[in-house]
Amino acid sequence: MPGLTAPSDYSREPPRHPSLKINSKEPFNAEPPRLALISSYVTPVDYFYKRNHGPIPIVEDIDRYFVSISGLVQNPKDIFMKDIWSLPKYTVTATLQCAGNRRTAMSKTRKVKGVGWDVAAIGNAVWGGAKLTDVLELIGVPKLTSVTPLGGKHIEFVSIDKCKEEHGGPYKASIPLSQATNPVADVLLAYEMNGEPLNRDHGYPLRVIVPGVIGARSVKWLDSINIIAEECQGFFMQKDYKMFPPSVDWENINWSTRNPQMDFPVQSAICSLEDINFVKHEKITIKGYAVSGGGRGIERVDVSIDGGKTWVEASRYQKPGIPYNAGDSCSDKWAWVFFQAEAEVPQSAEIVAKAVDIAANVQPENVEVIWNLRGILNTSWHRVHVRIGHSNM
Ligand code: MTE
Repeated sequence: MPGLTAPSDYSREPPRHPSLKINSKEPFNAEPPRLALISSYVTPVDYFYKRNHGPIPIVEDIDRYFVSISGLVQNPKDIFMKDIWSLPKYTVTATLQCAGNRRTAMSKTRKVKGVGWDVAAIGNAVWGGAKLTDVLELIGVPKLTSVTPLGGKHIEFVSIDKCKEEHGGPYKASIPLSQATNPVADVLLAYEMNGEPLNRDHGYPLRVIVPGVIGARSVKWLDSINIIAEECQGFFMQKDYKMFPPSVDWENINWSTRNPQMDFPVQSAICSLEDINFVKHEKITIKGYAVSGGGRGIERVDVSIDGGKTWVEASRYQKPGIPYNAGDSCSDKWAWVFFQAEAEVPQSAEIVAKAVDIAANVQPENVEVIWNLRGILNTSWHRVHVRIGHSNM
């Protein structure tokens, strides 16, 4: 497509921060260290996890770049960046989380397929861009449309990157048209991340942001948009990112029996401690993040220092000086909260965190009950072990 190209090898990848932990080099998949992740409420771009399925596309000429919108609409149209820039700009603070976050821990129970991630395939950014519903109005699709006169019910986002799962074709995904045209859903065509133009890793020049939904639906390097009757039939919607029960394995899987995962469930993780940690004192600070999908705020985070026998409630916050209250208009509804608790631990302790969202959804106690062959949505209680002393004791 004019203006945007996709290399077929990895010789033109962008520079990345050296502190990232690389889980796969080609395609580039990396996450920050736990402590760096919780160093600020808005995750710096350098520390934001990168999740790719092919080489990073390159913009050759931003003036010639456009997104073609077609399908089951009366007035298909090519939308240029100047058209997008001329629409009202919205900023939405939203946490993006890969469905594979915490997959490595799921693999310890029984092996799963997929890139291994610790607890940092997640980040919180201030996304700037046009609301998708405003863009769709440019082609005559009004707000709050669930079906177009020609029968379009889903909106498919197509990228330009070359993914081996798509046999060298582009990454794509869809969401319901009703969500895309609902201003309250805050779906963006974003051109900024934390006040700067998107960088190449995160989708320059334009990406989709679907708040509250697994990261897989927030398509980067947007090339075209199709209004379609059924959901997208691409690999990442139909043969990946679906949640199967523990009884399903590779020899008895039937992909069509399950829906593509959209909202993510309630999640939390301790980031101030590694899985096995030697601490100098019995007084420790337990700090981490909690988040839920669908715009559901975090009602409570419970912390235990005895493996889950007894609990205390941690404090929650987003921005300093502003009390966090799930559901309050001062709180960012699509964003994570940080939690913090101080504790005195015995010589050896199992520290656990679990979050509860405003719908009273709570994280499952064990990973075994949610084990699934693709290793997605490991939201089990997050456990770390501490011992007082030195690692060479
Ligand atoms: N979009 C394209 N074009 N190609 C991709 O590989 N990965 C998806 C999504 N959008 C992907 C994509 C997945 S699985 C996730 S979790 C997020 O982008 C990651 O976004 P990030 O790299 O900006 O953190």
